[in-house]
Amino acid sequence: MTGAGDAPQLSLNINGRTTAIAAPPMRRLSQVLREDLGLTGTKVGCDAGDCGACTVLLDGKPVCSCLTPVAQAAGRQITTVEGLANGTLTKLQRSFQHHGAAQCGICTPGMLLAATALIERNERPGEDEVLDALGGVLCRCTGYRKIITAVRDAHRFAEAPVETPGNRIVGARVARVDGIARLDGSERYGDDVAPADALWLKLVRSPYPAARFAIGDLAPLHARYPGLVRVLTAADVPGPNSFSVIPAFRDQPVFAEGRVRFRGEAIAAVVGDGETIEGFDPRDFPVDWQELPPLTSVDQALAPDAPQLFDDRPGNILVRGYVRRGDAQAGLAAASHVVEGTFETAFVEHAYIEPEAGFARRVGDGVEVHVTTQTPYMDRDEVARVLGLAEDKVRIVPTACGGGFGGKLDMSLQPHIALAAWLLDRPVRCLYHRVESMASTTKRHPARMQVRIGADSGGRLMAM
Ligand code: FES
Ligand code: FES
Repeated sequence: MTGAGDAPQLSLNINGRTTAIAAPPMRRLSQVLREDLGLTGTKVGCDAGDCGACTVLLDGKPVCSCLTPVAQAAGRQITTVEGLANGTLTKLQRSFQHHGAAQCGICTPGMLLAATALIERNERPGEDEVLDALGGVLCRCTGYRKIITAVRDAHRFAEAPVETPGNRIVGARVARVDGIARLDGSERYGDDVAPADALWLKLVRSPYPAARFAIGDLAPLHARYPGLVRVLTAADVPGPNSFSVIPAFRDQPVFAEGRVRFRGEAIAAVVGDGETIEGFDPRDFPVDWQELPPLTSVDQALAPDAPQLFDDRPGNILVRGYVRRGDAQAGLAAASHVVEGTFETAFVEHAYIEPEAGFARRVGDGVEVHVTTQTPYMDRDEVARVLGLAEDKVRIVPTACGGGFGGKLDMSLQPHIALAAWLLDRPVRCLYHRVESMASTTKRHPARMQVRIGADSGGRLMAM
């Protein structure tokens, strides 16, 4: 996808080579690098200037390529992670490998470029200088200590060999097995793997936390967007219209059916060529909304007169269960001190830098889903169920995972892209940026737990 149209020719000097490309002047440099030139070593986390994953060097200075119009880069020296090494890793990359400073690796290209600009000015920077230079690039995995150490230590690796995993494991320091691909930009994450001819998919989401809705006539939408290939709704789901990472908790429809229960819930998907889907405005989607009062707390949801969220979950209780060990009642009765309280957790977003992304394609009488995930087998089971296929007809191919922290246990785009690829027999790709990811996970309400904890005179703790 270029979005080039009648765009002017621009001359870009990337990693020492001059490339002519037709691109609209305001197209993001990150898009030109990744989508038009295939330089996927530059990562995009937020697309909004917050995370720094997209950092490249422009005339030796770090910039966010997601905020840089490509016209601003014309005629200047652009350096991406692919241009750092010249047949081998730089001393900085070797130091990262030695210190294990690339973990999931999604922030690593941005870190390396920001740090390269620093050590080219000052080969032996102090900690404050490193903190200052890397301040615009976020890392969710490392706690930053290994990265800071690797940058300060890079000067020692000018002549050092690249550390690779050896055969000796027990008693030996083991170099990171997947470290080098994360350092030279060749690692492939969820948004790096789609074939060039893939269609794009975008979800149409609810702007309301609670509402009823009716989808209108789609013909005017197709007329307005000639590149729109198909609109998918709940009526297109061949199997049960629900999924979850844990079967007992299935409460998420692939597409809502006439009623939404959280802001950001998907009601439909538009599928088409990249330029069409990139330019698609959800306000053009024909839908009538009837807003309902939302349930925004546990107390509201448990009130006797609360509206029922799901017919099969009486009292708005998702699941009941308890854990018991020993005779807690007797222990508490005998305790010399008892504390009792109700504890409620806040909603916390995992905030991994890599957005949910991937593509799916039909292969024979099955479907293949290439996606960033922490749970390929759970994804397989749920995708098969939604499509009404046997589990052995679904293959999940995990890409590298740019952070998850448990958040990528849950399914996100898997059922949507699998359904689109299955019905259209075309590869279909999708990418959720951070705002969309946040919307798709805010369905998780705060959890509440009542606990009694006692301690006897011997210091033994009991809880129930
Ligand atoms: Fe550019 Fe996050 S700052 S992708
Ligand atoms: Fe930095 Fe994962 S290694 S975000």
